[in-house]
Amino acid sequence: MITKEDIINQLRHVHYPGFTRDIVSFGVIRDAIFENGRVEIVLSFTTEAPDKRGQIQEGIRKALSSLPEVKEINFKVVDIPQGSPRDRAMLERKEIPGVRNVIAVASGKGGVGKSTVAVNLACALKMLGRKVGLLDADIYGPSIPIMMGLYDRPGLAEDQKFIPPQKFGLAMMSLGFFIEGDSPVIWRGPMVTGAIRQLLYDSQWGGLDDLVVDLPPGTGDAQLTLVQLAPLKGAVIVTTPQDVALVDARKGVSMFQRLEVKIFGIVENMSYFICPHCQHETDILSRGGGKREAERLSVPFLGEIPMDSSICSGGDGGVPIVIQSPESEVSRAFLHLAQSVVGQLS
Ligand SMILES: Nc1ncnc2c1ncn2[C@@H]1O[C@H](COP(=O)(O)OP(=O)(O)O)[C@@H](O)[C@H]1O
Ligand SMILES: [Mg+2]
Repeated sequence: MITKEDIINQLRHVHYPGFTRDIVSFGVIRDAIFENGRVEIVLSFTTEAPDKRGQIQEGIRKALSSLPEVKEINFKVVDIPQGSPRDRAMLERKEIPGVRNVIAVASGKGGVGKSTVAVNLACALKMLGRKVGLLDADIYGPSIPIMMGLYDRPGLAEDQKFIPPQKFGLAMMSLGFFIEGDSPVIWRGPMVTGAIRQLLYDSQWGGLDDLVVDLPPGTGDAQLTLVQLAPLKGAVIVTTPQDVALVDARKGVSMFQRLEVKIFGIVENMSYFICPHCQHETDILSRGGGKREAERLSVPFLGEIPMDSSICSGGDGGVPIVIQSPESEVSRAFLHLAQSVVGQLS
């Protein structure tokens, strides 16, 4: 006798049309009832087009045909009203006009150098001859304006789209561009999603190869929504070498994996310290933690970024280190990171 569990498990092999995710994790399946060889599948749809509904039902028939006990399959469709949480989740992930690859930079924890990595990765991608944009989606502390020394308000085009200001050849959008002075931002969940959606979709990115997105730290609801919203090609996870940060990095990796977003790999920031006087390398934190964690999670290790005071002064001064001293050891580490990402994109 087959159980509801068996049927649901079987349905996990059915992909939602156009996505790698399955229909069960997508929340399409409401219920599955089995009785005397007859299965009734209750489906809940929101904004799905008729052809998608048909494809899903076709997929279900196929998947269940391998269960010999199933003689008959019936469908019951429940429509979900527009504006409900799942409806909002379903509206997402459409391509961003004028952007080929969206690359997320994420961390489980704040202060590990996520923004530093995002900014320098973007600059390094640019140095590789690509057209690059940078989106600051860190609602808790937008830092791209300071790190890039750019405080312009985005212009408004005739079609009411934002024109991202440019610096160092990068097109940029940040919530920080819309905040006056030091006033703290208190965003409620739906406002955050709305704002990010606008920055992503209502900006004239103008033909980018890569859009690097500096995500908020952590793995809470805000992050989850953002990851569901943006059509990500993959994510770079930033960590520092010590255990506390690694635990959070692991959570970050698992969040992306759950949503079936590719992990480009883990970068270990503040890996070791190079003495500016004698060039001696000191492992202040537990260097190597990021690499070990990457191995454990079977994701690529994208390199070590040393602790370097010029990273900090570059960040505060509005000139990223990759631009300021492209030949330095630190910049080489960022270029290596950019090359690995590009390699995984093609
Ligand atoms: N490798 C590094 N060496 C020295 N300072 C760094 C390094 N990485 C980041 N920092 C500094 O640490 C602080 C936090 O970095 P930031 O990129 O803002 O972290 P996050 O975005 O994760 O909160 C900043 O002042 C930054 O300049
Ligand atoms: Mg930051």
